[in-house]
Amino acid sequence: MPGVADIVRPRGRDMPTPTQPFPKPRFTPLIPYRPAGEPERLAREFYEEVRQRRSVRTFSDRPVSRETIEWVVRAAGTAPSGAHKQPWRFVCVSDPALKREIREGAEAEEREFYSRRASERWLRDLAILGTDEHKDFLEVAPG
Ligand SMILES: Cc1cc2nc3c(=O)[nH]c(=O)nc-3n(C[C@H](O)[C@H](O)[C@H](O)COP(=O)(O)O)c2cc1C
Repeated sequence: MPGVADIVRPRGRDMPTPTQPFPKPRFTPLIPYRPAGEPERLAREFYEEVRQRRSVRTFSDRPVSRETIEWVVRAAGTAPSGAHKQPWRFVCVSDPALKREIREGAEAEEREFYSRRASERWLRDLAILGTDEHKDFLEVAPG
């Protein structure tokens, strides 16, 4: 099973350099879709499940295990991407000083956004969400 280091570095040692031929793809067989019940009931149950998803803007400082973080990163890595290019890099930061630096950088960017770049309309829409340039959660959340 890959560790975080493998996930963070998607172009690992197995990836070809431009001069090497691309390795033969390893195909995973498709598991055929076999609905376990009436499609209408399944669709309703799926809706009931996904409608409970919510965007989270406040975080607990309760520590989480490295294993939890690894599973979360693996889950994120299953997201579809254009041409399966997976144009992302997952970075897990636990060092408080680095977290502070990231927060300060993000807040500087957000100050610029809220005070200059955002349109009036956008600011109005954000107002009901209660978000602003303060990103204290970047230091509070474990990880
Ligand atoms: C592309 C995108 C950008 C978003 N940007 C912000 C943001 O800047 N600030 C914020 O608080 N929420 C942001 N959100 C979350 C939305 O506000 C949120 O999805 C919406 O209010 C509906 O709430 P829900 O996700 O809890 O259902 C963003 C969501 C998406 C998909």
